Amino acid sequence: MDKLIPFDPTLEQVQQSNKQAGIPDINVSVTHGKLLYLLAKLKGAKNILEIGTLGGYSSIWMARALSETGKLYTLEFNPEYAKIAEQNIRQAGYQDKVEVIVGKALDTLPILEEKKLLFDLIFIDADKENYSHYLKWSLKLANSGALIIADNVVRDGKVFDETSEDVLVKGVQQFMDLLVNNPAIDSTAIQTVGVKGYDGFMIGIVK
Ligand code: SAH
Ligand code: DHB
Ligand code: MG
Repeated sequence: MDKLIPFDPTLEQVQQSNKQAGIPDINVSVTHGKLLYLLAKLKGAKNILEIGTLGGYSSIWMARALSETGKLYTLEFNPEYAKIAEQNIRQAGYQDKVEVIVGKALDTLPILEEKKLLFDLIFIDADKENYSHYLKWSLKLANSGALIIADNVVRDGKVFDETSEDVLVKGVQQFMDLLVNNPAIDSTAIQTVGVKGYDGFMIGIVK
């Protein structure tokens, strides 16, 4: 992978501490972390929202794209993961730019709404069963022209199986149903084949 993206000691350290803490190895892969960074940079995102922090790997990639005054809010249900994420974020030097909010995202998203926060980039990567709810929330919390990106929308092609009984696949299918022909967002999906197999990102621009 060093042939594509140079060795990155900060993110290597994050992977190590996640491993030590027993955090599952389900963060985005390095090339897709860098894609998130590049898209955030391209967008000039000032406020970023992430749903699904895990150990903060993707948070750190996106935080790197923030301007001096930019902020990233990231939502995590598991308090142990959130604690490790905060440690990783501090070690990477982004403690002033990144806020980890602990709780079920559907319970914590209203806090962001109450604070009247609006986002330029939203990355959806938590429980697949609630993806369609996260899309509704994202549309509510997005600035016009914002990017919405969602991970794991292909799932080794399983998402194309309309007879699937897999709740994760069904969650993504409901999300896609809500997305297609949605007048509020212009979107596509890009397949991501990487070190973690075959999956995909949905990428959309809010109208
Ligand atoms: N974005 C991370 C990976 C996230 S994995 C990265 O690439 O580094 C998905 C995360 O969503 C897990 O940490 C899981 O605990 C969290 N999660 C699951 N259900 C959730 C919920 N209802 N609210 C918030 N987070 C949730
Ligand atoms: C898994 C992978 C992910 O990218 C994710 O967000 C959640 C779970 C997995 O492989 O189990
Ligand atoms: Mg994911």
